Amino acid sequence: MKISPSVQDVLNKQINAEFWSAYMYLAMANWCEEQGLRGFANWLRVQYHEENSHALKFVNYIHERQGEVKLQPIEAVPLTWKSVLEVMEKTYEHECKVTEMIYNCVNVAEAEKDRATVNLLQWYVDEQVEEEANADEIVTNLRFIGESKGALMQYDHVLKGRSFKDETK
Ligand SMILES: [Fe+2]
Ligand SMILES: [Fe+2]
Repeated sequence: MKISPSVQDVLNKQINAEFWSAYMYLAMANWCEEQGLRGFANWLRVQYHEENSHALKFVNYIHERQGEVKLQPIEAVPLTWKSVLEVMEKTYEHECKVTEMIYNCVNVAEAEKDRATVNLLQWYVDEQVEEEANADEIVTNLRFIGESKGALMQYDHVLKGRSFKDETK
């Protein structure tokens, strides 16, 4: 069954939001790299790859449902932050906003009685729980670290260990 116009439209908007997220995380990664925080930069680059994979999962799905993918311009992202704590606080806030957007997609799909899309979106609902928890954990850790440069460098080293694994496949 071909995807309905309203579901196609909201998923196209979500594709743009996922690419915007990717772009924002890359900007954050660049900023951290320039501050000498290579572990945070690594963590954020993994985040960049994840967001691209989220966008592509929607792209593939629209194709599977015989729909039309309409790529839109990606708006500018912030380029500087006051501190790495601010970077991670913004990350958490952003993920909460994305969760609301995903819930809105579910509402549109439910209004259309589109079971397949509701099912697809459940993957994103679960993913958002993880995304929010991961960002919240880092914010909490950074608050413990406070002004301790030594502790920050140790934590930065820990974050070097994260690597990208495509969970959408
Ligand atoms: Fe995402
Ligand atoms: Fe995300």
